Amino acid sequence: MKEKRIASGNGGAAVICRGVEKAFGTGNARLQVLRGVNLEARYGELTFLLGPSGSGKTTLLSIIAGLLKHDAGSVEVLGRNLSELHNGEAALFRLKNVGFVFQQFNLIPALTAAENAAVPLLAAGWKRKDATAQAKELLTDLGMAHRADVLPNKLSGGEQQRVAFARALIQSPKLVICDEPTSALDGPTGRHVMELLRKVALSPDRAVLVVTHDFRILEFADRIAEISDGVIVKVSEGKEFQEHVR
Ligand SMILES: Nc1ncnc2c1ncn2[C@@H]1O[C@H](COP(=O)(O)OP(=O)(O)OP(=O)(O)O)[C@@H](O)[C@H]1O
Ligand SMILES: [Mg+2]
Repeated sequence: MKEKRIASGNGGAAVICRGVEKAFGTGNARLQVLRGVNLEARYGELTFLLGPSGSGKTTLLSIIAGLLKHDAGSVEVLGRNLSELHNGEAALFRLKNVGFVFQQFNLIPALTAAENAAVPLLAAGWKRKDATAQAKELLTDLGMAHRADVLPNKLSGGEQQRVAFARALIQSPKLVICDEPTSALDGPTGRHVMELLRKVALSPDRAVLVVTHDFRILEFADRIAEISDGVIVKVSEGKEFQEHVR
């Protein structure tokens, strides 16, 4: 008999979006980017979001991460309705529970790789020495031990991406959100990072949501949601999708 997955949150979903709408601008310049998005990301799964440029992927991730407010619909993350969190609460909730790898890495130029990766721990009150040591351990797992004391402007795109990964994973967040995590990486490094993401970020009570254009990493997906012009048009199981594109 198949074992039932015990999940915190809601029936196995770490993220539940219902009818999510978002527009930017006003009047003639108003752009309706999300037009009623329904999406779930389940615990214990890597959920991929695929879609053309401009279809609203980063906008949706930013809303789920609590960085951007939606106009309509509901967003539930780890059992909390985001609309019910006030500004300060939302920031704390995000710091504690959500790791975000941004499409642009957003590293702090004046901090070394290890210090950048340690930022969430410092914000949580860790001592600098302990936080940096922890960051170096994670950077070592990512093949970056020798670059830990280097400033971001001396790192390649792929190296910066790995620092961004370390920063997102360092607090073992329940939800990891990655926007194009492998776009700056070569094939083998991209695969390594995805394997690490599976190993480090995924367990029965954690979930990972990944936006990608990179077909080389689709084999890592448990579930694939396709977005087009601000709506989810299809959701497939990873295997099903692979067979379809083969
Ligand atoms: N802050 C903003 N103000 C105005 N328009 C915005 C803003 N952010 C995004 N947009 C617009 O919303 C649309 C969707 O943008 P979004 O970044 O979500 O797309 P995407 O699917 O992530 O694209 P890509 O694959 O190129 O990263 C685009 O037309 C973009 O120009
Ligand atoms: Mg984007």
